Amino acid sequence: MNVVILAAGQGKRMHSDTPKVLHPLAGRPLLAHVIDTARGLRPGVICIVYGHGGDSVPRTFSQPDLVWARQEPQLGTGHALAQALPHLDPKSPTLVLYGDVPLIRAETLAALCQAAGKGVGLLTIELDDPHGYGRIVRSRGKIRRIVEEKDASKAERTLCEINTGIMVLPTARLKGWLARLQNRNAQKEYYLTDVIAAAVADKVSVSAAAPGAVWETAGVNSKSQLAQLERVYQLNLAAALMEQGVTLADPGRVDVRGSLACARDVFIDVNCVFEGDVVLGAGVSVGAHCVIRNVKIGAGTRIESFCHLDAADIGARCRIGPYARLRPGTTLAEEVHIGNFVEVKASQIAARSKANHLAYVGDTTVGSDVNIGAGTITCNYDGANKHRTIIEDDVHIGSDTQLVAPVRVGKGATLGAGTTLTKDAPAGALTISRAKQVTVPGWKRPVKKKQGA
Ligand code: UD1
Ligand code: CA
Repeated sequence: MNVVILAAGQGKRMHSDTPKVLHPLAGRPLLAHVIDTARGLRPGVICIVYGHGGDSVPRTFSQPDLVWARQEPQLGTGHALAQALPHLDPKSPTLVLYGDVPLIRAETLAALCQAAGKGVGLLTIELDDPHGYGRIVRSRGKIRRIVEEKDASKAERTLCEINTGIMVLPTARLKGWLARLQNRNAQKEYYLTDVIAAAVADKVSVSAAAPGAVWETAGVNSKSQLAQLERVYQLNLAAALMEQGVTLADPGRVDVRGSLACARDVFIDVNCVFEGDVVLGAGVSVGAHCVIRNVKIGAGTRIESFCHLDAADIGARCRIGPYARLRPGTTLAEEVHIGNFVEVKASQIAARSKANHLAYVGDTTVGSDVNIGAGTITCNYDGANKHRTIIEDDVHIGSDTQLVAPVRVGKGATLGAGTTLTKDAPAGALTISRAKQVTVPGWKRPVKKKQGA
């Protein structure tokens, strides 16, 4: 089979400089969803007709299996398909998809191809409000032609069976039909829909199939429609997660922009956003309002509310947050605790270590059973280069300590609160850099001067 995706149109009603098919749905361009579905059908060729927005569309998709056909100027859907013709295998049928109809399902397309046989297949649907769509004109039950809203008679406008735009066509015949298209219509365009009457005239069978759900064939013409389809996508995904046993506090308040794999007994509270590839182990619980991107979380770990986790690998039975930030390159072993207002970047933290309050741990290797006190900062940046800090097993770091990297704290060492560590701290000893405490005898608090005195 050949697949052609029409994506040259402007999308005026989006009011945006970004070409319509590049607007994201679930974090990926609309067109990416259509390409994925097309790939699932294992076609011989996927040809995308582009035009409006120029090369920014093909530049976004570098995969070598895609063929691009430029349509310039854009003279209608029939003219668009004609641009793809040279790339199509005339011996196999051609399936036409729209780049701005992102949620069409592969099963529906398979059923359409089945219905078409060697003839034409049209995906149609009955709508209560068919306004704006091309209408399917039948006589004695048989499809005769499609008439666009703008060209339709009053009687034709009452027809409720509409053209979704998705169709499958015998490629060898298509060439002749497209060559004979005229643009004598209300929009002065070459309508792809006119090939239906041509097929009927040539005695080629025209069959219809219907999608399983209305949203499958819903197009995106405005930001409001984009938001509606985003919610459809998210609700479908939430339903699939619950089907697998995930507990969602509210399926209407979860957003997955990528893939989310969950083991048994996962709980997700409201308003969490998952991006990229996220894997949650058995019994993981995610608190409200977390953003989690490209993260793997081990079994039994609790993420408290308001965490921001990015490209981190979190072990089993950890406690993270509330208000924790894990940045790329963070690896936590099991039973690590990262508390409120703690930022960790490019660091490995071994089992049972804790940084529970207000700390920055960057470019650091932390051993096991380490306690990092409140307000501890690893000073990893000298203004030009980054340096590493090494904290060995069983170290206790007092509050408000700065570790000026490169620096190493030996096994079992203790750093006194308020230490600014600029040299390595030996194992097993207390190291402290604080000035000695003094009390100044006879010192008086300053008093406010009298006004006008
Ligand atoms: C089209 C159909 C209409 C159908 C409706 C479904 C025609 C003539 N009409 O109408 O019967 O009910 O879709 O949504 O086909 N495109 C190009 N190049 C062009 C024009 C359009 O690539 O020159 C692409 C657009 O990017 C879009 C698709 O074709 O993906 C449909 O174009 P659009 O202008 O939305 O078609 P409608 O007028 O809505
Ligand atoms: Ca449209």
